[in-house]
Amino acid sequence: MNSVLVASNRGPVSFTVSEDGVLTMKRGGGGLVSGLSGVTKDVGVLWVCAALSDGDRSAVRQAPGGRLDQAGYETGALRMLDIPPATFHRAYNAVANSTLWFVNHLLYDIPNSPRFGTKFHREWESYRDYNGAFALALAEEAGHEARVMVQDYHLTLTPAILRAERPDLRIAHFSHTPWAPPEYFSLLPDEVAREVLEGILGADHAGFLTERWAGAFMDCCQFLLGAEIDRAGRTITHEGRTTRIGVHPLGVDGAALRDRAGEPDVESHMTALREQVGDRRLIVRIDRTELSKNIVRGLLAYREFLAAHPEWHGRVVHLAFAYPSRHDLPEYREYTASVQRCAQEIEDEYATEDWDPLILNVNDDYPRSLAAYRMADVLLVNPIRDGMNLVAKEGPILSPTAALVLSREAGAAAELGDDALLVNPYDVSGTAAALHEALVMPVEERRRRRDRLAAAATALPPQKWLAAQLDALNYDLG
Ligand code: G6P
Repeated sequence: MNSVLVASNRGPVSFTVSEDGVLTMKRGGGGLVSGLSGVTKDVGVLWVCAALSDGDRSAVRQAPGGRLDQAGYETGALRMLDIPPATFHRAYNAVANSTLWFVNHLLYDIPNSPRFGTKFHREWESYRDYNGAFALALAEEAGHEARVMVQDYHLTLTPAILRAERPDLRIAHFSHTPWAPPEYFSLLPDEVAREVLEGILGADHAGFLTERWAGAFMDCCQFLLGAEIDRAGRTITHEGRTTRIGVHPLGVDGAALRDRAGEPDVESHMTALREQVGDRRLIVRIDRTELSKNIVRGLLAYREFLAAHPEWHGRVVHLAFAYPSRHDLPEYREYTASVQRCAQEIEDEYATEDWDPLILNVNDDYPRSLAAYRMADVLLVNPIRDGMNLVAKEGPILSPTAALVLSREAGAAAELGDDALLVNPYDVSGTAAALHEALVMPVEERRRRRDRLAAAATALPPQKWLAAQLDALNYDLG
């Protein structure tokens, strides 16, 4: 039986299966996984996650009780759940990614969506089943009074289901996303909104990345549930139970990141990139091709910058890395296409024989991203809304002198705002002006700011972040 458990949709590894049935394992992506994978092995945590693909399902089916570590994989203690594909698809794509993600990132095109009809209600049933499958697995694996840390918007119902099953457990929930203000959150059908809020309130401790997202969650509980909120004491009391609210701004393990970025594969990418761009200045962005990352407005800002500043023609290159993400959703496929279209227009307008103003890359390549960070003069991070944004934190750790142009709507702005150039992500001209300001900022000034940014970015590395959440569950154990 385990005393500390973590549950998240995406696990630390994923598998691909070749035509001849050979399984290959690789590291999972995204902020949550990068934060947690380094640390769970060390503290002896059992991680429970879902099988996301056919490759994952084949791996699980060969593992006793879904325990991949017991099937010989070097994953740390890991149980992967083989949830029926149709249920998984409705829970993950339709509810988590097309509904809860859209609500908390304010992504709807309101005149046309959302539309909550009978189809949605079937999808919601699947989301319940999927959350129930996690609760069941956790209830089976957890020892008496074990501490369970449930992660993110995929698993908002799990805390309440698990508590009903195992009242002895200490349960935490952590949201890696922003939280929507009540007037936007209440786009959800009333009973769904309630179930999500009450699901999280099933935990003893509900964690958020910033004060702002924690405040929005408290507002939703107050206005939509009529819960009693103690803002100073950071508690929510609803139907006789009290949930504590915590703010844990996840940061980066600076030493580990620097070590990784010093490896030969990163160095050779640097050499290759340098050959490609010469001694031109570099504006870098690195994102999943994600609606909330605001890549198109970022490109439009670069275009406006080029239009306003012909003196920079031939002297600057924008490296935009936009890695594939959530391609099962049509909105994401269309978004990727519009990123590519916009990039092409910039090329058509400005490229010359010996100058490529923009290099857009849509293939995932971690060492090449690290190389780009190290070479950046300007790092552009302009999400519409973001829980934290670890790119904004990783960049300053790796680049000796990069200036950070940062959206005020990213959670990271709470800690990095003083030393970044903050922008309104919808203001294309404002972003263009910030790119220029970043490029002309004297190098000593950029270095001073970078030092403070790097210090803030490493203030709460994943080890400490996890420990803080575990401590938060100890309060009534004496
Ligand atoms: C965000 C979420 C994570 C998620 C990641 C990647 O960081 O908070 O929970 O894993 O995006 O998204 P994906 O859908 O590929 O898991």
